[in-house]
Amino acid sequence: MTENAGTGPSDGAEKNPAQEFTHIAVLAQEVVNLLVTGRKGTFVDATLGMGGHTARLLAALPADVSVLGIDWDPEMAAIAARNLAQFGPRVKIAQGNFANIDEITAREGISSLSGALFDLGISSLHFDKASRGFSIKHDGPLDMRINPDNPLTAYTIINQWPYEQIEHLIRICGERHSRRITKAILDTRRARALETTAELGALIARVVPAHGEKIHPATKTFLALRVAVNYEFDNITRGIQKIMPLLKPGARLGIITFHSLEDRIVKETFKMMASLGGWQPVTRKPVKPSEAELQENKRARSAKLRVIEKL
Ligand SMILES: C[S@@+](CC[C@H](N)C(=O)[O-])C[C@H]1O[C@@H](n2cnc3c(N)ncnc32)[C@H](O)[C@@H]1O
Repeated sequence: MTENAGTGPSDGAEKNPAQEFTHIAVLAQEVVNLLVTGRKGTFVDATLGMGGHTARLLAALPADVSVLGIDWDPEMAAIAARNLAQFGPRVKIAQGNFANIDEITAREGISSLSGALFDLGISSLHFDKASRGFSIKHDGPLDMRINPDNPLTAYTIINQWPYEQIEHLIRICGERHSRRITKAILDTRRARALETTAELGALIARVVPAHGEKIHPATKTFLALRVAVNYEFDNITRGIQKIMPLLKPGARLGIITFHSLEDRIVKETFKMMASLGGWQPVTRKPVKPSEAELQENKRARSAKLRVIEKL
């Protein structure tokens, strides 16, 4: 069974903390083909991760274009800084939430952008590093914060939120057995707190019939918790709204999503932008990974890239 969310290689094995984590940038060639234009100035990679897309973009962009890379997770920003050191002053790295992209660019003295990429969600490191608490497979604390300074954790939701709020959260994220799962969580926590990802995964597996499905029965609950802990849907909407006035005419905005709920937000927002005027879709249908890419990177299987251009 797999967790069915995210990007990057997965061997299913527990990682040694000293070992370097890796992440394969998804749809990398398609990103280069669709987002590299002749526009000069600063390009923004709003979800820098380990810097895979930024490295590919820098190699393809004219030498006088620099990239501002943003990541909310200071651990990722530090890894990217190491991985991108070879590009010298062509890369600037900022730690922050892309929902505040207007403040981040202002702080960096940047008033307009020549293009932008959002590769949503979390990195392979987040899934594979047990201590970050995102994984069903790698047992860790119920954490799931992208930014470890965030006050809300998955532990708080699971052990303190009322039945109605938990049930609603996991239902809107597509879990059919939301009532059964929430009841089991509340029954358990009356006796003791639920502490770890493995405990929660096992509890859900006990109450939800697997029906031979390939994904773990707790996958949708884990996705729902991650989305709530990091207010992911709100961030997408705010990030797009804030970046719109910063993009120069002719600049393109590309967004990669990994599940239907976030793709729907992007699709509807792009549709609204086009109807307002001043924006033109570049991709009529979302671009998906090729068979060759899927062979190399299983975690790319649900990726969709949508691109829009400012007129
Ligand atoms: C799918 S990974 C990006 C991988 C990257 N494109 C690469 O090639 O390595 C998503 C990254 O976005 C970051 N992230 C998620 N939400 C964010 C937000 N609201 N603001 C800034 N970064 C965010 C995560 O910490 C993660 O590193």
